Amino acid sequence: MSYLHLENITKSFGNFIANDNINLNIETGTIHGILGENGAGKSTLMNIISGLYQPDSGQIFINNNPVKISSSATAIKLGIGMIHQHFMLIPKLTVTENIILGTDNNLHLNLRQKQVEISKLSQSYNLEIDPTAKIENLPVGIQQRVEIVKVLYRQAKLLILDEPTAVLTPSEIQSLINILRQLVANGHTIIFISHKLEEVINLCDCVTILRRGKVVASTTTKEATPQQLADLMIGRVINLQLEKKPVSSGKIVLSVQNLQVVDDRGVIAVKNISFELREGEILGVAGVDGNGQRELADAICGLRKVKQGKIYPDPNSSPLFAREENLRLGYIPDDRQKNGLVMEFDIAENLILKLFKNLPFSRHGLLQRDAINNNAISAITEFDIRANGINIKARQLSGGNQQKIILARELAGEPELIVAMQPTRGLDIGAIEAVQRRLLAEKERGAAILYISTELEEIMTMCDYIAVIYQGEFVGIFDAAIATVEEIGLLMGGGIR
Ligand SMILES: Nc1ncnc2c1ncn2[C@@H]1O[C@H](COP(=O)(O)OP(=O)(O)OP(=O)(O)O)[C@@H](O)[C@H]1O
Ligand SMILES: [Mg+2]
Repeated sequence: MSYLHLENITKSFGNFIANDNINLNIETGTIHGILGENGAGKSTLMNIISGLYQPDSGQIFINNNPVKISSSATAIKLGIGMIHQHFMLIPKLTVTENIILGTDNNLHLNLRQKQVEISKLSQSYNLEIDPTAKIENLPVGIQQRVEIVKVLYRQAKLLILDEPTAVLTPSEIQSLINILRQLVANGHTIIFISHKLEEVINLCDCVTILRRGKVVASTTTKEATPQQLADLMIGRVINLQLEKKPVSSGKIVLSVQNLQVVDDRGVIAVKNISFELREGEILGVAGVDGNGQRELADAICGLRKVKQGKIYPDPNSSPLFAREENLRLGYIPDDRQKNGLVMEFDIAENLILKLFKNLPFSRHGLLQRDAINNNAISAITEFDIRANGINIKARQLSGGNQQKIILARELAGEPELIVAMQPTRGLDIGAIEAVQRRLLAEKERGAAILYISTELEEIMTMCDYIAVIYQGEFVGIFDAAIATVEEIGLLMGGGIR
């Protein structure tokens, strides 16, 4: 029996067709994967199903009845709940407040009773959460649970998860998978978007592949292989292997000694970290999210105060340290929407955020639109940014294409030091391949790269040396050529060497 059926759904933005005559059938009680390159139209389609966008044409059926999903309230009434690619929780509010937001007549709100209700609901799905906790104090994995409980609280039958695993650690992914399996066992239906092919094959019953707004295939996952799905997605054969040249280290570019840094709440997040990074080297920092990686990266890039210890070159001596020390810095932060982009600026503007005062982008204090636009056009080509023009706002770009803007900006101009946090997060496999090749080329040119990632496999393929960070400390530094996944994985989880 079909839960959701789409017939000839089309959606354009201006003259750009984001969804082109989409037909899709989602069977009740199944997990249905959606695959496609960055910008293929996945999130747009899900926004249509959850009532945020209206299709230009086509028909949606729920349980074989034609419906019009004119708002997210209508979607909720029809049993559809969406967990967005970028979470939509309010950080200053508690779990309970976020979950009940907009559902109750607040005049008669009994918070205590709601907390108990939410506790019970979350426990019945093995989704442990503290209903009194503030969202801003919770790790992403738990925030995601809150999003799930939020839609279950609204009695969703169909749950749509847009790239839910992109921000999760391996153990969080495993627990999410268990939760999803249990939801399906209880009669729920799930749409699951991911760029990780193995994950889709293992978890999903069926998969639909979008390419440039169109459905190119819809199949069961039983006999599918990652290579096959990749070929369908991209329309060309892609090479999943990378070639890494041996290190030829030059002079020291970055030196960190006994570094101590506190987090936003004043708690020590980085303790006693020391290392040196030379030209042509990639040092990987492997660790579970939230073990001080962000604070370490911010401090090195001069965005956070150093409590103790030294960084050379000193990022605090001058806000323009990049120029004074003749060190050009590229920083790819982990939260692209908060720290990487100005969402209301267009692509061209976002690409010159660091250089807008310089020639050729500015002359006698006036912005030079031609130079800015030409810069954008070449970045779009070079990084294969899929967008309908250079004057599209960052907010209107697909998640992966937002990430490509940051990469294009931060890797421009031959930086000497690149601090990359989760540089491939949210990218499709073709784009991951391109970015990794580009970073290896930067290394060969002589850039020193600090490569911070929670994906161990990525670290193993990309890095020359691997430091494991745990509770703010480097608990081991390895030569990547002889390190093993088991050894590093154990240390990441707090095991002893
Ligand atoms: N509000 C909007 N205005 C203009 N263009 C838009 C808007 N929303 C999406 N688009 C465009 O539609 C296309 C599809 O975007 P969508 O977000 O659906 O991609 P996606 O498949 O989810 O990609 P990703 O894997 O990167 O998240 C993109 O080219 C995007 O720029
Ligand atoms: Mg998307």
